[in-house]
Amino acid sequence: MRIGFIGTGTITEAVVNGMIRFDVPFERVALSPRNAQTAARLAARDARIAVGASNQDVLDSSDVVCLAVVPQIAADVLGELTFDARHHVISFIAGKSLDEIRALVRRSARVVRAVPLPAVAAGKGSTAICPRDDIARTLFAPLGEAVEVDDEHQFNALSAATATMAAFFALLEEQASWLVKQGVPYASARSFLSGYHVGLAHETTLDTEPFSAMVGHASTPRGLNEQLNRELSERGTYAHYAQALDAIMRRVQGRE
Ligand SMILES: NC(=O)c1ccc[n+]([C@@H]2O[C@H](COP(=O)([O-])OP(=O)(O)OC[C@H]3O[C@@H](n4cnc5c(N)ncnc54)[C@H](OP(=O)(O)O)[C@@H]3O)[C@@H](O)[C@H]2O)c1
Repeated sequence: MRIGFIGTGTITEAVVNGMIRFDVPFERVALSPRNAQTAARLAARDARIAVGASNQDVLDSSDVVCLAVVPQIAADVLGELTFDARHHVISFIAGKSLDEIRALVRRSARVVRAVPLPAVAAGKGSTAICPRDDIARTLFAPLGEAVEVDDEHQFNALSAATATMAAFFALLEEQASWLVKQGVPYASARSFLSGYHVGLAHETTLDTEPFSAMVGHASTPRGLNEQLNRELSERGTYAHYAQALDAIMRRVQGRE
């Protein structure tokens, strides 16, 4: 696979680092010259990685092209480029639909959307892909979980679910703050909660049973877990979460 990246920022760096670390098969990687520092850092890691002279140079030396510029400049950057019928385009650009990307890359053979997350660098990224695609799966499956859907509404919903990162860290901070109020030093609280949540996340990988079944296993009748979950449910915590995701979905779909 000869793969090019238009836009060498945070997410391209994470994907390329993951590709090297987890032995994704590739012949060449071509990087667009911006950001120059990131491109030079990646090129220094592997002899198969080179920085193109221009974005067009990247296209001309690639068969698979990943689009990784920010949405605001996508039309200008892509509008200046000549895509070819051999190009297999994988767009990471948030909020640009398959139809919008197809209009920008015209002659390309195929257009796919993917939403890789920074954790792909550590082989722990969940990447949503739409529509199902052998090349995107070959690229992202070794970097964590590759989840393919054919329906763009479902893809948008999976993209919306990636808005939960800050809220997840905020929940940890809330728990840490509570522990600090009980006199536990912040460093100890942080260390404890980090390991505790890694353990919980690991449990989800051991089986494919619904999360609701895991709630059941953890909820001994009249036990402490059963009580906390019930109190949060009764106060509407989870219902509010779904409403907040609805608002994110409206933005992802460009309705707000
Ligand atoms: N970060 C994430 O977690 C994530 C996850 C999934 C999808 N995405 C999507 O991936 C895309 C990139 O996100 P990012 O976080 O990687 O953004 P980023 O770090 O800002 O990277 C974008 C890169 O584009 C470069 N650039 C600017 N003008 C350019 C041009 N004319 N030609 C080529 N490259 C140019 C920038 O270079 P300079 O630094 O020199 O300006 C920058 O390095 C976005 O559309 C985003 O929605 C991001």
